[in-house]
Amino acid sequence: MSIGIDQINFYVPKFYVDMAKLAEARQVDPNKFLIGIGQTEMAVSPMSQDIVSMGANAAQSIVTEDDKKQIGMVIVATESAIDSAKASAVQIHNLLGIQPFARCFEMKEACYAATPAIQMAKDYIAKRPDEKVLVIASDTARYGLNSGGEPTQGAGAVAMMVSQNPRILELNDDAVAYTEDVYDFWRPTGQPYPLVDGALSKDAYIRSFQESWSEYARRTNKQLDDFASLCFHVPFTKMGKKALDSILTDDINDETKERLTNGYDAATYYNRYVGNIYTGSLYLSLISLLETHENLSAGDSIGLFSYGSGSVGEFFSGQLVDGFKDVLDIEGHKALLNNRTEISVDDYEAFFKRFDNLEFDHDVELADEKNEIFYLESINDHIRQYNTLNQ
Ligand code: COA
Repeated sequence: MSIGIDQINFYVPKFYVDMAKLAEARQVDPNKFLIGIGQTEMAVSPMSQDIVSMGANAAQSIVTEDDKKQIGMVIVATESAIDSAKASAVQIHNLLGIQPFARCFEMKEACYAATPAIQMAKDYIAKRPDEKVLVIASDTARYGLNSGGEPTQGAGAVAMMVSQNPRILELNDDAVAYTEDVYDFWRPTGQPYPLVDGALSKDAYIRSFQESWSEYARRTNKQLDDFASLCFHVPFTKMGKKALDSILTDDINDETKERLTNGYDAATYYNRYVGNIYTGSLYLSLISLLETHENLSAGDSIGLFSYGSGSVGEFFSGQLVDGFKDVLDIEGHKALLNNRTEISVDDYEAFFKRFDNLEFDHDVELADEKNEIFYLESINDHIRQYNTLNQ
């Protein structure tokens, strides 16, 4: 049975900060952020958008009335949990109006968790082919003002419908995961920001990729020549490029090197303007690849590398399905990115502090909102109330 990604969509908050301006404010050469890290703009989360509302916003346009009856499981992958007990999947299930006899839960392993969620969804559909699984990756990546990780922040969510006979990407049974206990990035319970060893996190990422890829190649007898393109977890666009370059060794032919390098540029185009969205970053990269690459065809193999600090990496693959471009909301995604509002570094800092202090400013955050969106309206007695804005 063919199982895979039938629908995919993303949501990012409507505010962003220009990375060159952030660099100036931090008295850093802008080229460090623009070229060295490889980020041009960074999505900023307003208090009105948390992992629940962003996840629901990413999912709402791909969940049809029929889907609401067919979805048997909702999994939210996140490392920005708003509650240590109640799963955000339960709230998203409610906001989307999915039938009540569904399993809903949250998964965690840093930026990796959406990948085991997809693999679990695939196994579930193999046993229940008439059902569907909604997988959502939703995060606010926050390292703190003036911190080393500040230029690698971002916010957003990706929603994917996993089903039989998928219309976008058929997943293969070839995933290879690699686990290594390493303190490269972690966030002890109760801490608002992660602790990170930046240099170690880059090394751990590359090692995890090399280990996953070489074991994958050994087990499957596949080579880089077999892939039309590769997608990576993208904490910042330079990171995946470093990992890719590390395996484009002298024995790889020039045509393959050029194809995979061009593919990487397409696969990181959206990420460059959004920043790190943690669990959703690999899947935002997949959307970017599918929507901005001009030479992909049905049947092409796509390799995907997922990474979560701590750490777990996984290399897996899929084949593009005939007509995959027709299922994507290419114009909607371009509009979502292009219609965002740039905010100054001062305003970004004010947004950041409001988010930390759980303070709302709906006059600023919801003004001129063009989309029909879910948003966080209030928090009373630690209970989050959501609403829909429809203008
Ligand atoms: N022009 C162009 N490039 C420049 C530059 C300039 N003026 N100044 C610096 N650079 C380059 C550096 O050479 C480096 O590139 P390289 O890694 O290819 O050598 C890059 O910019 C980053 O510089 P670095 O000194 O490593 O930056 P940093 O100490 O501020 O840390 C991160 C960068 C990404 C490690 C940090 O932002 C971080 O910890 N982020 C969160 C963790 C993370 O995302 N880890 C990734 C794995 S999950």
